[in-house]
Amino acid sequence: MYKKFFIQTFGCQMNEHDSEVMAGLLEERFYIPTKDIKEADFILLNTCCIREKAESKVLSMLGSLKKLKAKKPSLIVGVCGCMIQQKNIVPKILHACPFVNLMFGTNNMAQLPDYLERIEKYGQPVYEIVDEDSSADLKLPASREFPFKAFVNIMYGCNNFCTYCIVPYVRGRERSRKKEDIIAEVKELVADGAIEVMLLGQNVDSYGNDFKDSVSFADLLKEIDDIPGIERIRFMTSHPKDFSLELIDVIKNSKHICHSLHLPVQSGSNEVLKRMNRKYTRERYLEIVHAMREAIPDVALTTDIIVGFPGETEEQFQETVDLVETVGFDNAFSFIYSKRPGTAAEKFEDQIPLEIKKERLQRLNTSLSKWSLYHNKKYEGQNVKVLVEGLSENNDNMLSGRTDTGKTVIFQGDPSLIGKIVNVDITTAQTWVLKGKLEEEN
Ligand code: SAH
Ligand code: SF4
Ligand code: F3S
Repeated sequence: MYKKFFIQTFGCQMNEHDSEVMAGLLEERFYIPTKDIKEADFILLNTCCIREKAESKVLSMLGSLKKLKAKKPSLIVGVCGCMIQQKNIVPKILHACPFVNLMFGTNNMAQLPDYLERIEKYGQPVYEIVDEDSSADLKLPASREFPFKAFVNIMYGCNNFCTYCIVPYVRGRERSRKKEDIIAEVKELVADGAIEVMLLGQNVDSYGNDFKDSVSFADLLKEIDDIPGIERIRFMTSHPKDFSLELIDVIKNSKHICHSLHLPVQSGSNEVLKRMNRKYTRERYLEIVHAMREAIPDVALTTDIIVGFPGETEEQFQETVDLVETVGFDNAFSFIYSKRPGTAAEKFEDQIPLEIKKERLQRLNTSLSKWSLYHNKKYEGQNVKVLVEGLSENNDNMLSGRTDTGKTVIFQGDPSLIGKIVNVDITTAQTWVLKGKLEEEN
């Protein structure tokens, strides 16, 4: 008898990929996915704790499961991922939601099938959090969301300890996967129909630093670029501290690495960057941007920015706005600083009041969206190659896809084009999307 599972993912691509892996593990053990949460026998929340808001979303969803569990006592409700890897969290969750009968962290997701077996067999809940990762070198299955594109982990964890960030505490130290394993996985994915891969790591530029032989991220990219059948290579996330200018040449000389770079700057003020422990300066950041644009003029640059970091003065915030105006990003994720338990910045004095943080975010976003529109406008009248990803979210009659530079393009076309790369003439540019018309001969 098959049982049905439903996984809800919170957080970043790393978590999305972990959910694909856990779905793969479940499907090997007589579980099938369902889109209807009410008919699930097993509900799993794969959580994020990067900001307080991410955690409250999880808690509110958990609260809403109480009724379902009351109606169906055999239901297994599990919570896993980054939030669970935090110290002393299990009692807190149990206090609020005593019906949760499975909890595990980021280091032991490979054991998920065994945990379920234990719960089914003995009727006892399982709460298991381990400090050491036991799965970095395991070959795990993944039930991928899209046949034509795939996530590939190249490393786990983070060594940087930016003072605001909880990731190093919940994802552990950096562990690079062996180059041969990554290459083999990409080849398998291509054989399985994938034409785009997204290489994942918290800090991809330090890939291989934990190996004895010198293997760099640039070496890895060059090898992946040569794999027959691969069309698009993306990676996330680069860190300005470790970004080598050599990488620019690798991207420029490659056939398949996309012309987009996500390079989180966080702040435009050197003093704030120092307190954030980012280990680069505004000047170094601008140097990378210049070199990148000079070598690859059509590159799309995107970033992450935090406003209201403890002690951030109005002048320091203005330096961030000034940097945004100097660089003119294609797109950016902007966040209000959120205090995270156990991080260094939690103890910093001069926490900024929420009202000021909100107001700064608004001013920053005005500047950011102006630049998004500016860059999108350049696409009007151009013919671009689009990887068709699916139906448009807002209109089932339209298709949605992405350019090499990561821009979303909406156009009319047959759903049979999903998964293919097609030529689209861009007719209208808006702040967040490009609209276009399929080129006749497609
Ligand atoms: N490893 C990546 C991304 C980490 S999390 C990197 O170094 O860039 C993604 C983004 O969340 C970060 O870039 C940062 O902008 C934001 N972020 C992390 N911790 C935060 C916090 N405590 N409050 C607000 N934003 C935060
Ligand atoms: Fe967090 Fe900094 Fe590591 Fe990114 S590099 S995951 S922001 S500690
Ligand atoms: Fe990602 Fe959130 Fe964890 S951003 S690494 S899922 S804390």
